Amino acid sequence: TSVPILHYFIYGWKKRWVESKHRPDYGKFQLTAGKFYGDKEKDKGLQTSEDAKFYALSTRFEPFSNENETLVVQFSVKHEQGIDCGGGYVKLFPDTLNQEDMHSESEYYVMFGPDICGFGNNKVQVILRYQGKYHENNKAIKCRINKDTHLYTLIIRPNATYEVKIDNQQVAAGDLEDDWDFLPPRKIKDPYARKPRKWDERLQIEDPEDKKPEDWEDFEYIPDPDAKKPDDWNEEMDGEWEGPLIPNLNYQGQWKPRIIDNPNYQGEWIHPEIDNPKYKPDPTICHYYNISVLGLDLWQVKSGSIFDNFLLTNDEEFAEEVGNKTWGIRKDVETQWRELYEEMEKRKQEEEAKKTKEKEEEREDDIWGIEEEGSEEDSAETPGNDRQMKEDEAESGFLGKNEVRVDEKDEL
Ligand SMILES: *[C@@H]1O[C@H](CO)[C@@H](O)[C@H](O)[C@H]1NC(C)=O
Ligand SMILES: *[C@@H]1O[C@H](CO)[C@@H](O)[C@H](O)[C@H]1NC(C)=O
Ligand SMILES: *[C@@H]1O[C@H](CO)[C@@H](O)[C@H](O)[C@H]1NC(C)=O
Ligand SMILES: *[C@@H]1O[C@H](CO)[C@@H](O)[C@H](O)[C@H]1NC(C)=O
Repeated sequence: TSVPILHYFIYGWKKRWVESKHRPDYGKFQLTAGKFYGDKEKDKGLQTSEDAKFYALSTRFEPFSNENETLVVQFSVKHEQGIDCGGGYVKLFPDTLNQEDMHSESEYYVMFGPDICGFGNNKVQVILRYQGKYHENNKAIKCRINKDTHLYTLIIRPNATYEVKIDNQQVAAGDLEDDWDFLPPRKIKDPYARKPRKWDERLQIEDPEDKKPEDWEDFEYIPDPDAKKPDDWNEEMDGEWEGPLIPNLNYQGQWKPRIIDNPNYQGEWIHPEIDNPKYKPDPTICHYYNISVLGLDLWQVKSGSIFDNFLLTNDEEFAEEVGNKTWGIRKDVETQWRELYEEMEKRKQEEEAKKTKEKEEEREDDIWGIEEEGSEEDSAETPGNDRQMKEDEAESGFLGKNEVRVDEKDEL
C-alpha cells in the first residue's frame, strides 16, 4: 500500500505510543507546551523530562511502502532547555519492530533530525538503510541550536532525489546517489592513464634569455688592494700569501635571471576518468517496504526537548502547508514569549547573585570582627584582600553566566 497521510496531533498519545521496556530506566516523556510557546494547547508535544537518560517511545501505523512514491517525513522539535548533548531525531522502522523492545540497535530504515553534542557538533542526521547497512549523509547539514521550535522536513522522491528543509527552507538537496555512498562511484580515475613525462606544470620559469651582465659584482668580499705582503713572508714555509679580505662596496648580490610566465605551460594534469566497472545503477535506492513505526530513540544529557507535529505523507506541498499552519503561524509569538521568559530568567539570576553576594559580605564582616580581636598586626591587610578576592570571584562568576547568555543570543 502506498504512502498514507499520517498527521500526529499528540492528544491521547498514551494510547497510541508505546514505551520500550528494553532497559528498565528509560526517561519519561511528558505532554507539555513547555516554558514558552505560541499556543499553550496547540503547542503541546512530547517532552523529554529527565536528564541523562535514554528514551525509547514509538507509535505504529498500517504498513506502507514508498516504492515509486515520494516520502515526506516532517516534525518539529524545540530544545527549550538549551541542549548541550542529545538527539532530536525520529526514526522510521519496519513492521517487524517489537515496540516493547525497541532500543538503539533496533533495525530501522530512516533516521532523520538534529543531533547535537558539544560545541560545533550540531548536524542534521539523515541515515538511510540500504542493503542491510546504514549510510550517513556525507554532505554536512547544520541544524539549529537555539531554543525556538524548528520544523524539520525530509523528502525522498521516486526519482532518487532528496531535499532537507528546516523551517520550510531548503538546506540541502540533490541526488541520493551523490550524497550517500550507497553505490560505488559512477566514475573512477583511469588506472592506465599516466601523466606524460614531459608534461609542463610550471606556471613560471627563469628566463633562459636573461644573461648575467659582464660587470655584475657578485663577490661579497674582495682582497684588500692596500694590503702588502709582509717583507719577511717566506713562501716555502708560510705558503702562498693571501691578503685579508674586505667587503666589496659594489657588491650587487647573487645574480638571478628574471622570472617569466612559462610559454610552454600546459596546465595542471588532470587524471582522466572512466566509467567505474563496479558501478551498477539501482533504481530501488531508498525504497522501503512495510514502513510501520515512527519512533523516538534518543539519548539526552540535559532534557527538555519537545517533539511535535509529526507528519508522514507523499505530498511535499501539503507538508509545507501543514508546516505553515502549525509551526509557521505560531513561531513569532513563541519567539516573543521566549525573549520575555529569558529576560525574566536573567533578572532572577541577577537577583540571586546579588543576594549571595550580600550574604557573603555579611559573613566576611563577622569573620573580620573576630580576627580583629585576635592578631591585630596580621589581619590589618589580609582579610581586606581576602574580601576583595571573594568579590572578584562573585563578579566573575556572575559575568561568566552572563557571557553564556550572550553567546546563546548570538546563535539565534
Ligand atoms: C514501480 O515502478 C517500477 C518501474 O516502473 C515497476 O516495475 C513497479 O511495478 C512499480 N511498483 C509499484 C508498487 O507500483
Ligand atoms: C525529480 O523529481 C522532482 C519532483 O518531481 C523534480 O523536480 C526533479 O526535477 C526530478 N529530478 C530528476 C533528476 O529527475
Ligand atoms: C511486508 O509484510 C508482509 C506481512 O508481514 C509480508 O508478507 C511481506 O513479505 C513484507 N514485505 C517486505 C518487502 O518485506
Ligand atoms: C508557506 O509559507 C511561505 C511563507 O509564507 C509561503 O511562501 C509558501 O507559499 C507557503 N506554502 C504553502 C504550501 O502554503
